[in-house]
Amino acid sequence: MQNIVVLISGRGSNLGSIAQACRQQRWPARIAAVIGGRAATPGLALAAAEGIATRQLAHQDFAAREAYEAELAASIDAYDPDWVVLAGFMRILTPPFVARYLGKMVNIHPSLLPSFPGLATHRRALAAGVRIHGATVHFVTPGLDDGPIIAQAAVPVHAGDDETTLAARVLAAEHRLYPMVVRWLVEGRAQLRADRVEWLPPVAGGEGACSPTDDAQLLWCP
Ligand code: GRF
Repeated sequence: MQNIVVLISGRGSNLGSIAQACRQQRWPARIAAVIGGRAATPGLALAAAEGIATRQLAHQDFAAREAYEAELAASIDAYDPDWVVLAGFMRILTPPFVARYLGKMVNIHPSLLPSFPGLATHRRALAAGVRIHGATVHFVTPGLDDGPIIAQAAVPVHAGDDETTLAARVLAAEHRLYPMVVRWLVEGRAQLRADRVEWLPPVAGGEGACSPTDDAQLLWCP
């Protein structure tokens, strides 16, 4: 049984979708812990309701970024993690922290990377007039929103969209995309190899469990 540690900063709806899929689809993994910052109370409550261990760790309580990250790493490592899943985790992580979890830390970003890294992605997508927007799950590397892409979910941008309607459409796509990708990871179907994603065949007996086909790697969510 693999251990997943999820890091959140807020409401935790992606965490909820992953927890639900993990439970319902009987992954060979469990969410061992959810760690969240000061504003993560809703997401931590959701985790506690699922029976998952939680820890609230506020970076504001630490004088230096290094001290905060040392405590964060100790909190994560206490659960012997196979995977560290960033689900709406709003902290920029230092290169040593990223290196510690290289190849086992993934993030979801609400845009079709490499377009619109950083914040306010939906507003910037509308301002740019793109017709297709979406979300990306990628391995975390030191660059911001920059690691090798595992899969993306695309949504249309409609003429009448505002930031709220577009964000809701993307979030619904995220809730399909992220559990699918984390399942591929725990079932050993994708791994980081140098600076790219390597796709692997199913392990014996695992056929049919999940299938990272080309179509699945690009989810169209109209
Ligand atoms: C999501 O849109 C995610 O892509 C972004 O932050 C948001 C988190 O939402 N990084 P939630 O906390 O999972 O509801």
